[in-house]
Amino acid sequence: MRQQLPDFPWDSLAPFGVKARQHPDGLIDLSQGTPVDPTPEFVQEALRKNSNSPGYPVTAGTPELREVISAWATQRLGATGDFDVLPLIGSKEIVAWLPTLLQSSKVLYPDIAYPTYLVGAVLAQAEAIPVGVDAKTWPQADMSWVNSPSNPTGRVHSEEELRAAIAWSRTHDRPVVSDECYLEFGDGVSPTSILSYTGGDNKNILAVHSLSKRSSMAGYRGAFLVGDSELIAKIREVRKHAGMMVPLPIQHAMVAALGDQEHVDQQRARYNARRAKLAPALVAAGFRIDESRAGLYIWCTRQEDAWKSVDWLASLGILATPGSFYGELGSSHIRIAMTATDIHIDDAASRIAAALATR
Ligand SMILES: Cc1ncc(COP(=O)(O)O)c(C=O)c1O
Repeated sequence: MRQQLPDFPWDSLAPFGVKARQHPDGLIDLSQGTPVDPTPEFVQEALRKNSNSPGYPVTAGTPELREVISAWATQRLGATGDFDVLPLIGSKEIVAWLPTLLQSSKVLYPDIAYPTYLVGAVLAQAEAIPVGVDAKTWPQADMSWVNSPSNPTGRVHSEEELRAAIAWSRTHDRPVVSDECYLEFGDGVSPTSILSYTGGDNKNILAVHSLSKRSSMAGYRGAFLVGDSELIAKIREVRKHAGMMVPLPIQHAMVAALGDQEHVDQQRARYNARRAKLAPALVAAGFRIDESRAGLYIWCTRQEDAWKSVDWLASLGILATPGSFYGELGSSHIRIAMTATDIHIDDAASRIAAALATR
């Protein structure tokens, strides 16, 4: 490998977990974006009903799943023109392997980002170049990632920014892949898909979607790609050889989940209510909330080294993630996940308020 894989960052957080666990009322873990609210019952039922599955699934997905994804992409994402779809074993799969599947040697990714974009470039032995949001400043490369809403910042791309990314793709005749796995979780904003701005010409444009957060199905590993038919055909061909088929019972569960919007609206309301509860407590404690317009997180700073903020919260039994996990530009921010029960979020807000009262 041209570059080594980065150290697994979570190991460096472990001592703060030990400290937080010593709090007399126990640990409140707000470090990981792993959903805790139950998978909707009807999704569980679809999985159970389809558990007899003796034959192999096909890489392209069942006709039923393909149809449901296509219809959802048209209605929910605003996709138009010719496009194809492809089920994935979770979106992390494609983030980690797409540069390899496309044999890319130069990959652009956001300068504050989910770490797997870098990992995917390293696995492909590609040069990984962190870039800002403004695609007009991007250099020539083999492909570029966009992530809106962003993990960790909760920033949402504007229409103009997404159109600029499409323009970069057209100028360089290279793929732009928009990771939109938090699209459903706007907080006072309605994030939009890159596919709604292609004018029906989807060449070199892909959107990545996942049911992990949308439908609290992270344990199922169900996600999909939507976009350029030729590019998807190419990716599907390689994946057919590589054995990356989505298990059939999961495909049935995905059909059920995509057929319902109500549970998504409820989940959005839950995350936003948690953010509304915790944000004022953090502000009272001197944190400035940045972005955080969508997704599962609060991205905030006390204009100090991120580890200092992590340490202060650990002393209250609360575990947060240092922004440095997501790139150098995050080194004075922390990321706090709303993927904890309402009780834990209430407790976290109370512990912060109590700590301020005794200052
Ligand atoms: C931006 C982003 N993309 C992709 C993923 C992968 O999610 P999954 O593999 O569960 O679909 C995550 C997970 O946290 C993420 O934050």
